[in-house]
This record gives sequence, structure tokens and C-alpha cells, in this order.
Amino acid sequence: MQTTPSANRRRVRPRPVGAALLSLCLLTGCAGDSPSALNPGGAGATRISGLWWLLFWISVAVFVEVMALMTWALVFRRGAVRVRHSQPMRFVAVAGAGLPFVILVTVYGFGLHDLAALGKSPGRDAPTIEVIGHRWWWEVRYQGASGVTANELHIPVGERVRVRLRTDDVLHSFWVPQLMPKTDLIAGQERQTWLQAERAGSYRGQCAEYCGTQHAHMAFMVVAEPRADFDAWVGRLDAPARAPETDAERRGQQAFVQGTCAACHSIRGTDAQGKVGPDLSDVGSRWSIGAGAVPNDPGHLGGWIANSQTVKPGNYMPPQPVSADQLPELIAYLQSLK
Ligand code: CUA
Repeated sequence: MQTTPSANRRRVRPRPVGAALLSLCLLTGCAGDSPSALNPGGAGATRISGLWWLLFWISVAVFVEVMALMTWALVFRRGAVRVRHSQPMRFVAVAGAGLPFVILVTVYGFGLHDLAALGKSPGRDAPTIEVIGHRWWWEVRYQGASGVTANELHIPVGERVRVRLRTDDVLHSFWVPQLMPKTDLIAGQERQTWLQAERAGSYRGQCAEYCGTQHAHMAFMVVAEPRADFDAWVGRLDAPARAPETDAERRGQQAFVQGTCAACHSIRGTDAQGKVGPDLSDVGSRWSIGAGAVPNDPGHLGGWIANSQTVKPGNYMPPQPVSADQLPELIAYLQSLK
């Protein structure tokens, strides 16, 4: 299709106001529940966003100053006005070296101060969660509870929770942008960080260190809830998983325990005690399947069981030889585990 030059010009004309609003939107994370470090939900991320805004406004001030000086120089170079600087070297020394030095030292000081504050470990009585990075999912254990869960951390609101980090294979990085900066998981070492959320809600976390093809699908959710709910959650980890109630759920459990599933997955209170993949004792209540790969609903769960390689290629779970009759029963059983 041919267009006239004027039509072309109309189409590509920039919209400065729209562009500025879009940039501001991206900058501030747009919505109130955006998982952005600039939308902090706890003390750790508040420090990081404070430092970010300090750097931002200093950069704005330096940019404006440099632009003003450049404009001034361009205007007066034309010779309209003759300016004479009494001590040009002093101006260069102060504005070109002294001022940047003061700014950098100040920012460095704030950075060190925040680093020290973020590195302070929580009190000895703080709840402790152990998180282990795997090829592309997170194993989660709570101090004082025997059960294991995956890709979801529950913490009590307003309390500082210690998080101990290990990796089962390669480097990963534990990052909850709204709560805390990144902490790398290093093979052969135990690292430590803490989480504290000021308000109840869900905070998305993400692996922040490239760890293979499904690095982007290595997400988790931090659920901050009142202390009583947190205690109940940890308490449930000591109890057997919910028993099947319907015939379909019972047949699903049988298929799970006697089939290939149990070779890799555990469900508390059953004979399924595999350790390769995530423990599935509460899989029905989890926020996603495959560490953020797809939503946790019957359709996606069925697709995952039949052939998870089409959903998250490269993960350790091979396609499952499940019959058309068995699949709905397996789905019913797993979805009932809440
Ligand atoms: Cu684990 Cu990236």
C-alpha cells in the first residue's frame, strides 16, 4: 500500500507526553502490586529503593547542571557576550573533580551503610526457612517441621525470617525484588539472607542467576500472612497429606503410588517417597506448576503430567505413560492435595 509522505510523517510523529508517561510507568512498575524493587513491601527492599532514588535524583541534578553549562558555553561562544573567568583552573578543579568526588564518596557511604544493615542477621529466635535450589525449582524446609514443600515460602507478617540457602547443582540466585536484594546460591556453601514483609500478601520471587535453559521458569512465591496462619501452615507440614475422598481420587492415588510418579515424588503418609522431584503433599494449593511455568489448574496439570517437556523443555521429568482413564483421576487426586 502506498502512503503519502505527509501521512507517513503523521504516523511517526513522536508523542513526547505519551512517551514520558510510558517511561514513568515502566520506571515505577505501573501497578501497586508490581513485583518491582521500586515497589517495596519490606525493610530490605525499602533500603534498596531509597538508594535507587538517591542515585536517580543525583543523576538528574548532574545531568541538568551539565546541560545548563553546555548551553551556556554554546551561547557565549558565539561572541554575543564576552565573559572572562578570573580563575578557570579553579572552576575545572571544583566542578570537574571536587564535586564528583564528594558525590561518589557520599553515595559510596550510603551504599556501605545499607550493605551493613542488610547483612545483619535476624535474632536467634527468628523463624528459619531452608531453601535449596534445584534444576529449576526450589525446595523449601521449615525449621521444626519434618515436611518439605516447593516453590512457595510462607512467612509471618512483620517478622524477620532467616533464610538459609544451598544449591543442589549449579549457581542460582534467590531474589524477591519487593522484599530483599539478591543472594547467590553457591555450590558447597551455605549462604544466608532474611525476609521481612510489612503487609500480608504474595510477593513473587525469581532466580536471578542464569542456570540453564529454564532459568526464567525458576520462580517462587513468598506468602506473608498473620502469625497464626503461618504457625498453622508449618504445623500442617508434620501431618500426612490429605487422604483421598472420592473414588476417582482414590484411584488417582493408587496410580500415583504404584506408577512411575512415586519414583521421583513424595507425598506424606503414602508409599510415594521419591526424592528427585518436588514433594507434592500440598501441590493442589500451590500458585503454579513447574515453578511459575504454567497456572495450577486441571488442564495445565494434565498437560504437565502427560508431557512436561512441551511446557518446560529440559526439566528432569520425562513424558508419562498414563492412560486416558488414569489421567483425570491423577489430576483429581493431585488437585485435592491442599
Ligand atoms: Cu536457577 Cu536461574
